Amino acid sequence: MKQIHKIILLLLIISLTGCYYDSEEALYPQLSTGCDLSNVTFAATVTPILQASCHSCHSNSNAVNSGGGVKIQNYADVVILANNGKLMGTITHASGYQQMPQGGGKLSDCEINQLQKWIDNGKLNN
Ligand code: HEC
Repeated sequence: MKQIHKIILLLLIISLTGCYYDSEEALYPQLSTGCDLSNVTFAATVTPILQASCHSCHSNSNAVNSGGGVKIQNYADVVILANNGKLMGTITHASGYQQMPQGGGKLSDCEINQLQKWIDNGKLNN
């Protein structure tokens, strides 16, 4: 085989095997975990999580009677708890924090990761 043919053959093999790395999992990480961290917003991601697991005690109207006066509904209130570490501390059950939701099951890893992602992205009111 001529040298040029060997090189062409080699390039062909490289380009073919290269396709195997374009697996769905590598291209779309959220498909494999079912957890979408690519489009996290306060309105569409954070609020529904808090609504489902926290507002029964921490909405503006329930906080006084059921949530120890802690409001976790308005953007400004959520940001305060994100900034002082209590939001993530309580839901990850970190030592030194009360475990939330009180009396309920821990949030899923996906929900926890989505709240962390919102914080990492700059705690936007979006
Ligand atoms: C069944 C009611 C209930 C639910 C549901 C609940 N909490 Fe609480 N939470 C409380 C009560 C009551 C307190 C106040 C406890 C105290 O002061 O001793 C509290 C306190 C807190 C505090 C303040 C802790 C501190 O050290 O100041 C945070 C933060 C908090 N909750 C976050 C959450 C989050 C986030 C959720 C949802 C994932 C949640 N809670 C769900 C009842 C609840």
